[in-house]
Amino acid sequence: MLVKAHAKINLLLDVVGIRPDGYHELKTVMQTLSLSDDVLLETAPIIDLAVDGANLTAGPENLAYRAADLLKQRTGYRGGAAVRLIKKIPLAAGLAGGSADAAAVLRGLNKMWNLGLRMDDLFHLGAELGSDVPFCLWGGIAMCQGRGEMVTPLPALPSAGVLLVKPCFGVSTADVYRRYDTLAKPGHPDISKMLTAVKNADMSGVAKNLGNSLEDVTLALHPEIGLIKEEIAATGATGVLMSGSGPTVFGLYADPPSAVRASGMIKRENRWVQASAFYF
Ligand code: C5P
Repeated sequence: MLVKAHAKINLLLDVVGIRPDGYHELKTVMQTLSLSDDVLLETAPIIDLAVDGANLTAGPENLAYRAADLLKQRTGYRGGAAVRLIKKIPLAAGLAGGSADAAAVLRGLNKMWNLGLRMDDLFHLGAELGSDVPFCLWGGIAMCQGRGEMVTPLPALPSAGVLLVKPCFGVSTADVYRRYDTLAKPGHPDISKMLTAVKNADMSGVAKNLGNSLEDVTLALHPEIGLIKEEIAATGATGVLMSGSGPTVFGLYADPPSAVRASGMIKRENRWVQASAFYF
């Protein structure tokens, strides 16, 4: 069985508080992209993971392995699965690659093992694995609250091109949130304007109201992100923002071919550049 694990971007991310459990209370709007990892599943006597295309451990600490193991433990399923990840989403990039893989494993094995779990059950298991996993189970566009695990679907936007640029380093999400806590005056994007734009399918409103509370933190650590933002803006993007905790920066375009043209303009040796599109 082949399951596609789609990347996401945050069109808006506002940190609205710190929780007693140390996590941050978020209001975020996430959108899945056509960019995806391939997750291949086959029945097998035990859980066995293999990873192609990335320097990523395939042991029990891998989120995809943990997803299979959690599903097996909670349902008492006696068999296993050979899980092969073909990675195309970069690691530690702010694109939820690991969460997307875990969500694909939950959905795929629920079918392959004939477990009959409902989406609601999968959501709860997903939230135990990571804050972005419930959204990745759902996909499309949604407002996510709490740690990010409370998902409210939103109406689909018109199609758009997306250019993704990741510098050669990755960042630790936990580290970015820790540093956020030391900011004297953190910025807060206006989610109500973004939600109005989304509900009106108003792409110029979406582009105008992009915002990310974590951007200043990662930008201060890595000024290269600011330069990438300027370069993307100069290709004619309608809006530019860092996704999640970074360091990937995305630009929005009227259509997918415009994103492909822009990718040709800013390709460099020392960065990952990928044209993609909204995926519903
Ligand atoms: O939930 P997930 O494992 O993806 O989160 C990674 C890290 O990011 C957490 O350990 C936590 O330090 C930080 N985080 C946070 N608040 C959130 C989501 C993540 O502080 N809402």
